[in-house]
Formats: sequence, structure tokens, C-alpha cells
Amino acid sequence: MAADGEHGHPTLHTHNVDEVSPTLPLETRWPPSAHRRYRGFWVPELFLPALAAFNDHFEPAPGDVLLVTCPKSGTTWLKALAFAIAHRAAHPPSSADHPLLVRNPHGCVGFLEGVFFGHSVEEARDVLAAACPSPPRVLSTHWAYSQLPERVTGGCRIVYLCRDPKDVLVSWYWFLKKVVAHGATGDHPDLDFAELYEVFCEGRNGYGPVWRQAAEYWEASRDRPDKVLFLRYEEMLRDPSGNVRRLARFMGWPFTAEEEDAGVVGAILELCSLEKLRNLEVNRNGAPAIPVVSNDAFFRKGVVGDWRNHMTPAMAARLDGIVDDALRGTGFSFTDSGHAEEGVAP
Ligand code: A3P
Repeated sequence: MAADGEHGHPTLHTHNVDEVSPTLPLETRWPPSAHRRYRGFWVPELFLPALAAFNDHFEPAPGDVLLVTCPKSGTTWLKALAFAIAHRAAHPPSSADHPLLVRNPHGCVGFLEGVFFGHSVEEARDVLAAACPSPPRVLSTHWAYSQLPERVTGGCRIVYLCRDPKDVLVSWYWFLKKVVAHGATGDHPDLDFAELYEVFCEGRNGYGPVWRQAAEYWEASRDRPDKVLFLRYEEMLRDPSGNVRRLARFMGWPFTAEEEDAGVVGAILELCSLEKLRNLEVNRNGAPAIPVVSNDAFFRKGVVGDWRNHMTPAMAARLDGIVDDALRGTGFSFTDSGHAEEGVAP
């Protein structure tokens, strides 16, 4: 068995996952489920079999685009934008029957954890086919770069979106409050921000440490810019059209001069805007795209700097310090853009 160099644990496969999972370090303080540390990242325990099956059985197809985030970094927005870009020939963004008007963005982009969760290989194939009925395939995951098999890092175009960890934490807090309220778990009825903050500072939140995940993808984007596009939520708020053009170019479907003249970029941004999506009936009252999470839980404020309403300056400085220490020597910083204080979601 190939060893996980960092922790001495074997690589997860379907044949060993039941045996290996219980031996991985355990964290139970981050709701809604237990987490295990695998290759340096805190993965929801219930998804470990899915990670193993994904490792063993996922085959990239030519043209695949894989969207990756730490949860609460703007995944929903990225999914909507990438889906709208990829399928704009069949579904012009201003069409009255656009899929994003009747399906939550999470229902439009296959989530690899979900594809492989609780399914046999054959079932997973069918779920994947149903999630991506027509090419190109736009898929998503929260797995770390170092957790992806080489055939995926080599075979897919990967788009990574990061966000200031302080705002990620605040977004997690409100999301988990909603998830708890909707009964996904009864274990944390009095979710406490200060407690979550401590766990987050230890890097032990779901899929954390956030900064380590971002640094890995940032490094990959620097080494293989044709394979990995690195985006920042704050930059997307500051310059939505510029970033949508970058995204489309990277995905392999740049906007033509005719599309530019016709205002397609603006139409995509309008379709995928927080206000538009939040107010759709499907996202207010529709059937959940992700089991046990109501669709409205993915839409909140969409601003930069909401952490100020939840953290004292000392708490913010401590978390920033932890992140800075962890990133020292990597060359990556969450504040590279220099515009982190300006954005509001369109
Ligand atoms: P806030 O909780 O700070 O408002 P994820 O999609 O990764 O779960 O992240 C959720 C965050 O993205 C939430 O942030 C949410 O409001 C914001 N968001 C959701 N849809 C968005 C959109 N269309 N445009 C901008 N931000 C969006």
C-alpha cells in the first residue's frame, strides 16, 4: 500500500477504507459531523468512502472542468457562473427557461463527494451521467490538491476559488446555524461563534486548514497555469466581468466578439447574481439540491469584511497571525489582491 508520507497512513482505496478510517485522527467539535484528518486535511468522516471510491474509479473526460473551494468561499456563485459559461450555446443566459432559474447551482454541477457517496461504482457512473447530461462536464469538489489522483490533476482543468478565512469562518457560522435549524443534526443546538472560532484557528474545520488548501492550489496554479486557475472571491466582487472573462478563457470557451457586443458577459453576471438567485422560488422553497441543506442556506450577504461584525480586532489579528505563520515561505497570501475591503455581491 502506498503510504501517506505525512502521517504514515495508507492511501485510501475502496478495499481498505473501512479499516483505515478509524485509525485517522478524529475531530468532533466541528458540526455537523465528525471529521478525520487525511493527508493533513480534516475531511468529513462520512465522505471518506466517497474519497476512496473517487480515487479508485473517477476517470476524467477530455474537457472536464473541476471547480474546487473550501466550503463558504463562494462555491455556489462559481458553480452558477461556470455552468452558465459552459452551457451558454444550449442555454443563452437571458433565456426564460434557463436551468439556473429552476435549479439551484448545486443541482447543476456534479459534486464528486455526492456522486461517490453511498453508491456502487455503477451507480456512481449513472449519477455522474445524470449530473452532466450533455458535455462539457463541469464538476466540483472540496478535496485538497494533494488528495487528488494524478490522472485528475493532469486530466482536468481545475478552477480554485479562495476567500479571506475570516469571512469564510463567519459564513460557516451562519450556514451551520441554518443547517442545525433544519435538523441535519441535533448535536449543536446552541452553536457558539467563539467555539467555532477556536476550532477554525486550529485549522480543524471541515476541509481545513483553509489556508493550507488555498496555498496548495495557489502553488499548483503557479506551476501549471494551463491546468489550474486561481481565483479570489474578493477580486470577483471587485471586478466581476474581468473574472468571468478569465474563467471563460481558462475553461476553453472565451467570449467571441459577437458575444461581447451582445452583452453576454453582463447577462451571465445578472443571471448568477446573489440577488437574482436568492429570490428564485427554487432557492427559497425548492427541494434541496444537497440533501438536508435547504437551498436558501447558500445565499446570505455576499460581502467582504463581515467578520468585523463577529470578531473583535484581537480575534481577527490572532487568526490573521496564525494564517501568516502557516503561509510563511509559501509565497501565497490571502491579501495579494490589495482590494479585500471593497466588494459587495452584485
Ligand atoms: P456569506 O455567508 O458571507 O454571505 P459557498 O457557496 O461556498 O457555500 O459560500 C457561500 C457564500 O457565498 C455566502 O457568503 C453567500 O452569501 C455567498 N454567495 C452565494 N451566492 C453568491 C453569488 N451569486 N454571488 C456572490 N456571493 C454569493
